[in-house]
Amino acid sequence: MGPGFGLLAGPVLERVRGKDMETTGKKPTSWTRRVAGWLAGSPLTAPGRRLMEANFRDYHMPMGKAAKVMAGSWLILRDHADGLFPPSFEDQQKAYQGEIDYFASIPGAARERMIADHVVKPFWNSHSFGKYAADVARLMRVFEDLGVPPDGRLLELGCGCGWMAEFLAIRGHDVTGTTIASDDVGIGEKRVDALVARGLPRRLRFRVAPMETVDERVRDLGPFDATFVFEALHHAFDWRKSIQSASRTLKPGGWLVLANEPNLAHTFVSYRVGRLTNTHEIGMSGRALRAEMRSAGLGDIRVLQPQVDNRVTAHWVAGKRPSR
Ligand SMILES: C[S@@+](CC[C@H](N)C(=O)[O-])C[C@H]1O[C@@H](n2cnc3c(N)ncnc32)[C@H](O)[C@@H]1O
Repeated sequence: MGPGFGLLAGPVLERVRGKDMETTGKKPTSWTRRVAGWLAGSPLTAPGRRLMEANFRDYHMPMGKAAKVMAGSWLILRDHADGLFPPSFEDQQKAYQGEIDYFASIPGAARERMIADHVVKPFWNSHSFGKYAADVARLMRVFEDLGVPPDGRLLELGCGCGWMAEFLAIRGHDVTGTTIASDDVGIGEKRVDALVARGLPRRLRFRVAPMETVDERVRDLGPFDATFVFEALHHAFDWRKSIQSASRTLKPGGWLVLANEPNLAHTFVSYRVGRLTNTHEIGMSGRALRAEMRSAGLGDIRVLQPQVDNRVTAHWVAGKRPSR
């Protein structure tokens, strides 16, 4: 490295190390936060800042993958500089309320529009339908492979608007969908009405129940053949407590299935969405998930995906409550 580097880098490093702060009496921030602050304010990342500002006004504005990465990276830099990233989520009531208010909090979209959108989930377009249809087919196959009876009793955690619970009820299962948001339950109940209108048995119901305490909220329904969570455990305020509670909802020999829960790298991708929608999203470690399942008394842990953990591919994991 030549002397030119020192000349160029000197002033930057000085700001980064916080020499200017030393005389102000303020607590010096870490060097990574200083670098992030400098980058977030630099013309290099200005396109990302502009995209993010527009996105904060309109959640639904069309954005390609590159634009999402640019905007998301800028937000991470800025929030890291402010000490907000990685997020810490310490206030349970605030985290719950953010999830409950989801439909009413989307920038640029009214609550009614969000509800109308979710009534028709997953028929949004060919891409989303293809993805969700593949996911529900995979989950059905997982239940078949694990020996869950085709008319067995299922409990879903974080069921959202209940589309997956509805498909599984049409398949023949008896399904209880639970979620933290009463708006979700309202949509789910329309699905129950639709089943009944089609002459199908009323083997589908929805309840408001935070997954951290779900066992207490569904005790009156008796134990389940399988409890599952699809793309929602990473929204829980306390995913460890949720796994413990979920394991208590199972019959002896029943299965807990964690389906398509995001891996660690997801934190970087979803941070932008979590901040826009005021929801709680984190990436999860496969090793930590499996350890928690074991500590909840589950055995025969089966890692269905990823076979080799690359921190990116989503988790599909199942664990069994011992038969006796
Ligand atoms: C990404 S959505 C997924 C919903 C659904 N599984 C689907 O595929 O449409 C996450 C869901 O988890 C719910 N949720 C968030 N925190 C929760 C908690 N602590 N307990 C129960 N549900 C929660 C949210 O209300 C939301 O419905």
